[in-house]
Amino acid sequence: MEKFVVWHDNYSVGHPLIDEQHLKLFELVNKMWKIRKESKEKRMHLFKQIEKLFHLHCRDEERILAKNGCKDIESHRHEHRKLQKQISKILDSCLEKDGGNKTWMEIMIFLMQDLLLNHLIGDDKKHQQWMSP
Ligand SMILES: [Fe+2]
Repeated sequence: MEKFVVWHDNYSVGHPLIDEQHLKLFELVNKMWKIRKESKEKRMHLFKQIEKLFHLHCRDEERILAKNGCKDIESHRHEHRKLQKQISKILDSCLEKDGGNKTWMEIMIFLMQDLLLNHLIGDDKKHQQWMSP
């Protein structure tokens, strides 16, 4: 399969559930790239799956960080809410009939840069010390 982003083992944060969700998000982003030429409905359906998994992931991660006494949890929560808002804004924009549509490349860049690179393997990785199972 042609991959847009590749998972490396050193992206692991050391918690099996969080790693599994991160890996799944990578897979879904790759799937988004793979179906880039398919119908808008199909792509939106997949984007909603990413939204659903990301919400679940934020909930689980916040629970784990709180359990392990993360001092920085409020700012991490804030980052999660910000990304969730961006995702729902993209979905709203794509559902609009006239104009306001984000281009497909902008969506892919958001997923790759903001979600995977800056958050999952950036911010989340920095919180690794509070992610022990
Ligand atoms: Fe996070």
